[in-house]
Amino acid sequence: MKESDSPDRIAAAGDSDLAAEAVDAIEDLSGVHPGYRRAHARGICCRAFFRPNGLAAAFTSAPHLQQQETAAVVRFSGSSTDPALADLLSPAKGMAVQFCLPGGGTASLVGATLPVFFARTPESFIDIIRTAHKAREGNLGPLELIKEITTHFSESRESFLSLNRLKPPASYAEARYYCIHAYYFIDPEGIRRPVKFEWAPDAGVRTLSLTEARQQPDRYLEDELELRLKAEPAVFQLHVIFGEKDDPTDDPTRAWPEDRRRIEIGRLYLTETISEPAGLLMDPAAVTEGIALSDDPILQFRHTAYRESFYRRSAEL
Ligand code: HEM
Repeated sequence: MKESDSPDRIAAAGDSDLAAEAVDAIEDLSGVHPGYRRAHARGICCRAFFRPNGLAAAFTSAPHLQQQETAAVVRFSGSSTDPALADLLSPAKGMAVQFCLPGGGTASLVGATLPVFFARTPESFIDIIRTAHKAREGNLGPLELIKEITTHFSESRESFLSLNRLKPPASYAEARYYCIHAYYFIDPEGIRRPVKFEWAPDAGVRTLSLTEARQQPDRYLEDELELRLKAEPAVFQLHVIFGEKDDPTDDPTRAWPEDRRRIEIGRLYLTETISEPAGLLMDPAAVTEGIALSDDPILQFRHTAYRESFYRRSAEL
C-alpha cells in the first residue's frame, strides 16, 4: 500500500477530555501519588545506545534504524500506580525506550511483558477501569475481579490469561517486552508495511518461582540491574514482525499469528543506571519519518493520556 492511499490519523488529534476521564478513572481506582506517573509509577532509568544492523533500511527511512548508532534513554517499570509497591506485587513490567534521533528530536517505543492489551478502545478502557473500581468497592478479591471484568468485556480475556501466566522476572534485563500496537514502516519509495516491535533480551528470558521471588527484597529488580550494569552492559535485540493481509492493525487485544516473518534490526546496549532525566515523557505515538501510526485507537489515545498524566505529575513537583 502507498502512503497516500491511507488516511493517516494524527495522534495529536486525540481527545483530551477523554484522556482526562481515563486518568481520573485510574486515580479513582488507585488513588493519587503526587509527582508520580499515573501508571507505571516506579521505575529505573538507564543510559543506552542503539546500534542498528542496517537490515531495516530496505523497509523504512527512519533515521535511527539505518546504520548510525544513536543514544537512548531506557526506563524499566512495574505497572502499579503505587510507587511503594514491592516488585513482586506488580506482575507486568514495562520497558520504555526513547531514541535521540541523529538530526535532533526523539522517537519512542513503549513495551510491556504482556503481548496484548486488555482494552480495544479508549472508551472500553475507561469502562473496564470503572468496573474494576465498582467491583473493588464490593470487596471482590483479585481473582473474582478478573472474572467480573472478563465476563463483561470478552476483549480483555487474552490479556488476563497472559497476566495469569506471567511469572516474576529474574531481572529487568531477562524479560521480553512487546510493543503491542501495529505501526507502519514506510520505505524510501513510500510503500507501507504493517509491523510490530519486540525487545528480546540477549541474556535470555529467566523467571523466578514464587518462593524465590518472596525471598527477594521489595526492589530486587532495581538492585539487580544496578549490579548487573556495573559488571557489563545489558543487551536487547530489536525484533520487527511483519503483518500479513488480514492481521489486525487496529486491535491491541489480538496478537498476530506466531509464524509471521521476524527480523532483528539492531541491538540496544544499556550501560549504566541514571537518575530520571527532567521532563521525561515516553510517548508510544512519538514516531519519526519512515514510521507511521496504525489505526489502533489505543495507540493514538495514549499520546493524549500520557500528556495528561505528565501535566498532572509535573504540576505536583
Ligand atoms: C488506554 C490505554 C492506556 C492508558 C490510558 C495508559 C495510561 C498510562 C499512563 C497515564 C501512564 C503514565 C504516563 C506518564 O506520566 O508519563 C502510562 C505509562 C506506561 N504505560 Fe500505559 N496506558 C495505556 C496502554 C498501555 C499499553 C497498551 C501498554 C503496553 C505496552 C502500556 C505500558 C506503559 C508503560 C511501560 C508505561 C511507563 C512509561 C515510562 O516508563 O515512562 N500502557 N500508561
